[in-house]
Amino acid sequence: MEEISVVNAKGQVVFPSFVDPHTHLIYYGDRASEFFMRNQRIPYMEIAERGGGIASSVRQTRGASDEQLLLSLLKRLKALSSFGVSHVEIKSGYGLTKKDELRLLRIINKAKVYTNMIIQPTCMAAHDFPPEAKNDPKLKEKWISEIEKEILPYVKEENLSEFFDIFSEEKVYNLKQTERLCKAALDLGFKLKLHVDEITNIGACQLAVKLKARSVEHLLKITEDEILLLKESETIPVLLPGTAFYLNEPYAPYELFEKNGVEVALASDSNPGSNCTENMLLIYTIAAIKLHMPLDVILKAATVTASKASDFIKPSGIIDKGECANLIIAEIPHLEYLFYHYGDNPIKEVIIEGKKAFVNIDM
Ligand code: NIG
Ligand code: FE
Repeated sequence: MEEISVVNAKGQVVFPSFVDPHTHLIYYGDRASEFFMRNQRIPYMEIAERGGGIASSVRQTRGASDEQLLLSLLKRLKALSSFGVSHVEIKSGYGLTKKDELRLLRIINKAKVYTNMIIQPTCMAAHDFPPEAKNDPKLKEKWISEIEKEILPYVKEENLSEFFDIFSEEKVYNLKQTERLCKAALDLGFKLKLHVDEITNIGACQLAVKLKARSVEHLLKITEDEILLLKESETIPVLLPGTAFYLNEPYAPYELFEKNGVEVALASDSNPGSNCTENMLLIYTIAAIKLHMPLDVILKAATVTASKASDFIKPSGIIDKGECANLIIAEIPHLEYLFYHYGDNPIKEVIIEGKKAFVNIDM
């Protein structure tokens, strides 16, 4: 007989658990001082050029032990699950040496032992150039070829990740470098997710569609023509309104997606620099206020479409006989209340594939 468990949700609201298809949850330390610099109007990219930004997290992450990295990752997962997230994509990218990128991916995979959250690791060795290569074209070329010839084949061989992601951006990986690395990843059988149009539009969205990427993410600077290209493709647009909020930048033009009938996914982008939070409910509240997304659209973007963006084979979003029980139980009078009363967390229980969500941090 099938095992049946009964959960008493009397007087509470039950709805599908959330899927977060874009995070950078594995890192060590913090960049709180940058937060204040940015708010004093020093741009994100300028802070990066002064040696802060991703490079600062890379230094702190490289200096941390495996145990420190695992524990800090588990704490963040626990926080994320308390806000209703059952499925989460986690990108590497704060290692930026072969040894450290593989180490981060192994730790992401190891985290699966301590939680029943559904984790999708992504290799993002192209999150930036290693700090020591940043101003040296020869070292940059060496790093690109190391990703191509060593890191990606190794990740594949050890089965550490099915996805490859790259920060395609004017001052990071240019279009040519993006195409070269994405093609190398495709040749090895990786699926693609791309950071596109976050700070500048260099045409990476068109490239992603051409390469049949699973998703394009950020899209603050996307044009309507590119949205029309996405409409004809299988590539899922992922919007990260928490990042626009945190960087105080103009939001992705959701109204153009809506006008053209293109469905989007929502994600947190949780990371130590451009959006330091695990509060998924707050991300959806920002989507409601700043992207003007209605409730039903937010819920679909947070579940069914988000599941597609990271290829979760057992998605969340449908409550029916025969479906996986991925559920949230919240003490709210009705569903709108969840995003309306912002900053609060009324979630009482998260159920993942029929079992209470857990993240065991007592290692
Ligand atoms: O998605 N764009 C690159 N990666 C992150 C930020 C990383 C960081 O600042 O540490 C992002 O915004
Ligand atoms: Fe990101």
